[in-house]
Amino acid sequence: MSDQSGAPAGAGALPPGNSFVAGEAAENFVQIVDVVKKFGETVAVKGVNLNVEKGELFALLGSSGCGKSTLLRMLAGLETVTSGRILIDGEDLAQMPPYRRPVNMMFQSYALFPHMTVESNIAFGLKQEGVPKAELRDRVQTVLELVQMGRFAKRKPHQLSGGQQQRVALARSLVKRPKLLLLDEPMSALDKQIRQRTQIELVNILDTVGVTCIMVTHDQEEAMTMAGRLAVMSEGEIVQLGTPHEVYEYPNSRFSAEFIGSTNLFDGNVVEDEPDHVFIETPDLPCRMYVNHGITGPLGMPVTISVRPERIALTRKPPEGAYNWGRGVITNIAYMGGYSLYHVKLDGGKTVIANVSSLAISEIETPTWGDEIYVRWSASAGVVLTS
Ligand SMILES: Nc1ncnc2c1ncn2[C@@H]1O[C@H](COP(=O)(O)OP(=O)(O)OP(=O)(O)O)[C@@H](O)[C@H]1O
Ligand SMILES: [Mg+2]
Repeated sequence: MSDQSGAPAGAGALPPGNSFVAGEAAENFVQIVDVVKKFGETVAVKGVNLNVEKGELFALLGSSGCGKSTLLRMLAGLETVTSGRILIDGEDLAQMPPYRRPVNMMFQSYALFPHMTVESNIAFGLKQEGVPKAELRDRVQTVLELVQMGRFAKRKPHQLSGGQQQRVALARSLVKRPKLLLLDEPMSALDKQIRQRTQIELVNILDTVGVTCIMVTHDQEEAMTMAGRLAVMSEGEIVQLGTPHEVYEYPNSRFSAEFIGSTNLFDGNVVEDEPDHVFIETPDLPCRMYVNHGITGPLGMPVTISVRPERIALTRKPPEGAYNWGRGVITNIAYMGGYSLYHVKLDGGKTVIANVSSLAISEIETPTWGDEIYVRWSASAGVVLTS
């Protein structure tokens, strides 16, 4: 059906999500080759291959226990690999003594020294390296300004908000001028509002510095907002790799489709397969589904169609087309401000969720609980999943 990026065949000029083959391009700053990590019986990382380019902000995304932190810790040299290789700037990490590794990791809890001022916290690593005093002062000053914490230089961590502590931790990582910055759940201590603001600030800071960055998160919105590319991980493996747009619009599996955003999944069988479209029959709908991209597989093959809630429209009148619609009753409405989530229980018993903008709602006579309604979507809305 598709390559690992999940982009369907015939999707046109999409940049390939997984064209980075180990050892291929000189620009691959980080190369992770067949990396496996076992802890006794547990295989935390199962043969991961991944390349990250210089200057990229890359996110590892996945649910708890899928091996994100383990992979990051191996990149930091805090865990050894069971097998496989990690190259940074062409050099094997295993051959590099710790002090020469151009890597800095910011941990899930920032681990600032509570008795030291902001300034001393940031200067700590440089002092240990024996950086001369004048240079040390300059470098600390520069990163303090970068993270806009100059005014707080003399404060102790407990006198700062969560977001401010996070910026100090970031400054402490950046002051060492790592070539590779590793962030493990950098926002986990922040509440939602500061989180969103901090995400954008952080991207701007990393852009300014130009450092290559790999971050771990289990928050898909965070990964989508911040990263240029991301990898969805499950049980120690990379399930999908691509830009946020590619992974969201062309998930390559049920796991990816459900993990990134929410979606409606219809199970069915292929009844007609043309080069640029397929017809699928599903017990959930009174009509066939028409999806305008090709698949590879025999007729009758069981598939799942993913249709995102924002691709589903509600209408009062029966849709005119012969495909991609259903009839049902509104069983729930979640008002979200700018949009509402409508739960529509179809005649066949399946509930679909439609995300309808407030503007679109005002254009159909505002639907309410118990109303009979039609759902429909276009041929480009569905994505065929075979796994
Ligand atoms: N030092 C260790 N000894 C034994 N098992 C470990 C060790 N570190 C991690 N594991 C196991 O490896 C697996 C992956 O753990 P890891 O910390 O990488 O997950 P994660 O994706 O970062 O999860 P979370 O989102 O909860 O932080 C888990 O099953 C975990 O229990
Ligand atoms: Mg973790």
